[in-house]
Amino acid sequence: MTRELLTGIGQLVTNDPADPGATGVDRLRLVADAAVLIEDGRVAWLGSASLAPEAEVVADLGGATVIPGFVDSHSHLVFAGDRSAEFEARMSGRPYTAGGIRSTVAATRAATDSELRARLRGFIRELQRQGTTTVEIKSGYGLSVADEERLVAIAASVTDEVTFLGAHVVPDEYAADPDAYVDLVTGPMLDACAPHARWIDVFCETGAFTVAQSRRLLEAGVARGLGVRVHASQLGPGEGVQLAVSLGAASVDHCTYLTDADIATLAGSSTVATLLPGVEFSTRQPYPDARRLIDAGVTVAIACDCNPGSSFTSSMPFCIAVAVRDMGMTPAEALWSATAGGAAALRRDDIGRVAVGARADLAVLRAPSYVHLAYRPGVPLVEATWKDGVRVA
Ligand code: NIG
Ligand code: FE
Repeated sequence: MTRELLTGIGQLVTNDPADPGATGVDRLRLVADAAVLIEDGRVAWLGSASLAPEAEVVADLGGATVIPGFVDSHSHLVFAGDRSAEFEARMSGRPYTAGGIRSTVAATRAATDSELRARLRGFIRELQRQGTTTVEIKSGYGLSVADEERLVAIAASVTDEVTFLGAHVVPDEYAADPDAYVDLVTGPMLDACAPHARWIDVFCETGAFTVAQSRRLLEAGVARGLGVRVHASQLGPGEGVQLAVSLGAASVDHCTYLTDADIATLAGSSTVATLLPGVEFSTRQPYPDARRLIDAGVTVAIACDCNPGSSFTSSMPFCIAVAVRDMGMTPAEALWSATAGGAAALRRDDIGRVAVGARADLAVLRAPSYVHLAYRPGVPLVEATWKDGVRVA
């Protein structure tokens, strides 16, 4: 079995609170002049480069910064069609509504499996080039039993983190009887999709699903062994956060319009608040106040929500830069949220940190420190990406 040593690391971000050699900035943990030994897809050793063990393969990174690969815990990457005209109209003043989802549903239903797979593979390459090593992918642009099943199956071919989102919106053919659509989603659609998925999600929002419908949908998923995630408080305040916490959700996502009670409830729970800076950027909605959440003790993750409607970015560095500039996060908090925070939102402890035994998922930044992720917005600093110990970009 080959051992590969990455050395010449000017700054290593470990996120490992147990590492005695690391120093801390907020929740980040840092090691200077470091090396990492990779064996069998996992981190076998890390520490000061001067103490590094021998290895068959040695890569000198020449002073680069190494961080855990980004964990992008929210995306909608199996779709067809283009909504750039909707974005252009929005930038001329039209508001974002959930209605645009239906146009992607029509294009996705009309696409073949091989078209959807090819586009998805392109997105995965795009993510890896930007340092992302784990991505959660939701269905939700099929909205029929056969189409949702093929979307979750296609998603499952590229990630273990698949979310069934049959309850994205009510499709046109059920507009007159939304509860009949909830019956479909909780019955035959869930039966078809649950074997391919780890999670269930619901868009709990005016214009999508009510709190009562969302509870029914999520409870049906739990009964099938799926974990809970919720889209809530994106377009206005609502009861989605309370619902998510009451069901023990791993994450409640968007959180653009939170009440004081929502924040107190989140702070007293194990539910992560996943913020999606690309959405507010691309819809011109107000940014959520991450500072308020963190100060209250809420665990915050950052994700791209890459989708053709509300946020068509796959760049975690971009989202970090926006979170720092406009949501009150420090550069260290934003990086933690984009790595360890994403791992927490997926209830994973094998990713989001560089520690002995963790997956060797790493991104190499051509920069002297992690701060450059926010300091140099829009600059492609990611030079290489390792996933499970293999260089993928
Ligand atoms: O996370 N909020 C609901 N779903 C997506 C948007 C999907 C779309 O507009 O196509 C989101 O923002
Ligand atoms: Fe989403």
